Amino acid sequence: MIQRRTETALERYLPVPVTAPVRLHAAMRYSVLGGGKRMRPLLCHAAGEAVDADPQQVDSAACAVELIHAYSLVHDDLPCMDNDVLRRGRPTCHVEYDEATALLVGDALQTLAFQLLAEHPAAPAPGRQLTMLTLLAQAAGSRGMAGGQAIDLAAVGMALSIEELEFMHIHKTGALIRAAVLLGAHTGAADEATLQGLGHFANRAGLLFQVVDDILDAEGSTVTLGKTAGKDAAQDKPTYVSMIGLERAKEMAARLREEAHAALASIQVDTGRLAALTDYITERNF
Ligand code: IPE
Ligand code: IPE
Ligand code: MG
Ligand code: MG
Ligand code: MG
Repeated sequence: MIQRRTETALERYLPVPVTAPVRLHAAMRYSVLGGGKRMRPLLCHAAGEAVDADPQQVDSAACAVELIHAYSLVHDDLPCMDNDVLRRGRPTCHVEYDEATALLVGDALQTLAFQLLAEHPAAPAPGRQLTMLTLLAQAAGSRGMAGGQAIDLAAVGMALSIEELEFMHIHKTGALIRAAVLLGAHTGAADEATLQGLGHFANRAGLLFQVVDDILDAEGSTVTLGKTAGKDAAQDKPTYVSMIGLERAKEMAARLREEAHAALASIQVDTGRLAALTDYITERNF
């Protein structure tokens, strides 16, 4: 239900493909619509639900994070980064269109995300909207996702320490997962203790998400994943699987799942939906 709701909202927020420049707008829609698990919007709505947020107000925050995520995937797939030809079961943006368009799709999706947050006053408390804009900017930028991606590229072929690997994962993937949860919480009336608890939960869930992504890259099939399997090993990327092996990576995922649940258990509001999503993140096969 949230996935369909998100799909409709994204569809509404994205410029229609007859608006000039037609090709860029078509490529933006191609890269965002009709695929993906919508995990970040799901987490954003689940956190919003925990603090009694109005789902209509959560929509813009949920879509803003998803737009940043979609942009990060378009750029992640470029030849200068992971050089991938398949994403969400379809040719990647630069294959379907061209590299320059893919670059601009990323630029435009990123700015659209901030426009959404700025144009849709998301919460009654003064200053709340600015807090949310700052939160997303930090999560997407050089001290968040973009920084993590830089570390990822620099780490190809290198043996990182476990601490360095964790730092990379927390940034490239954890930061946006954390932003999704916290933006949802900020949309409603979360008190300081709840925000702290949710932040702690999101840190574990974000790292868990990328550990499972590493495991799936090694174990999954291209058809199920909708992206080329086995790329991490082929490109000599340091991952939890390459560093500690498949079995220990799975143990680590199980531990992170428990830690995420423990963080939720210490929060005074109903976090049932976040708990269910934690299980889904762990058990998913794509
Ligand atoms: C893939 O993210 C890239 C990572 C940050 C690990 P998802 O697994 O959420 O990809 P989609 O959105 O479902 O396609
Ligand atoms: C991507 O990590 C993280 C992003 C910020 C996009 P990966 O490179 O492992 O993601 P996939 O496996 O291509 O989806
Ligand atoms: Mg990558
Ligand atoms: Mg990649
Ligand atoms: Mg991966």
